Amino acid sequence: MDNRPIGLMDSGLGGLSVVKKVIAKMPHEDTIFWGDQAHMPYGDRQQDEIISLARTGLNFLLSQNVKVVIFACNTMTAQAMPTLQAETDRQIIGVIQSGALLAAKKTRNLKVGVIATTATVESQDYTKEIHYRNQKIKVVEQATPKLAPLVEANEPAAVRQAIVSESLQPLVGADFDSLVLGCTHYPFIAKEIQAAVGPQVQLIDPADQVAQYTFNVLKRDGLLAQRQTAGQHQYFTTGQAASFSTMARAWLDQPDLTAQHLD
Ligand code: DGL
Repeated sequence: MDNRPIGLMDSGLGGLSVVKKVIAKMPHEDTIFWGDQAHMPYGDRQQDEIISLARTGLNFLLSQNVKVVIFACNTMTAQAMPTLQAETDRQIIGVIQSGALLAAKKTRNLKVGVIATTATVESQDYTKEIHYRNQKIKVVEQATPKLAPLVEANEPAAVRQAIVSESLQPLVGADFDSLVLGCTHYPFIAKEIQAAVGPQVQLIDPADQVAQYTFNVLKRDGLLAQRQTAGQHQYFTTGQAASFSTMARAWLDQPDLTAQHLD
């Protein structure tokens, strides 16, 4: 039993889509979230920059005595996880293996689409991980670099739909039955994405499986919290604490949430 918090990190708000699933799955766990809004989007950056930025977040979370770290970011998982896992003995959990597992399990026509940042698509990690489970699945990966900044900008619905539809245009005609939301920001615009691809495509959010996997790891290692009360949740951003708090409160349905700014 271990009452230390679970650490989660992302370049910005997107990681909250994972926080939400983790809290739903493990309501007695404390969490600490670090979002690097001052440096997002990560997906347009080079690998060495992504590693160096993610290292800052990782070291912050380790300084808060977390028991496990979730890279609630596909870009960090693809570009920084192998390097940074070698620098700590605290387990780091990524999101791509979980997304790939769900996609391989759920596709019926053995055709899967993946939308993600440029850095994630360049890694081809989704294709590799899906093929690791089933070589027969055809995977189409499409970079959609405008979408994570769109979520952060909190644009009105009509603007959101226009940018989402334009970003998904290259996928028209690809007849996959499952589309992986390969960036943790995308669940925030799932409605617009679903409208763009049509109701016949099922959207796959890796976060469902990430929460389950994290639970399994904590249970296996005897690290689940032992308390009857609800966990406490802390949020840190390198961006504007006020606007982060507003969006996080609404997304997580935590009316008292107040994020803190970190330099
Ligand atoms: N949320 C991040 C991901 O899952 C990245 C967004 C970004 O900073 O480009 O890839």
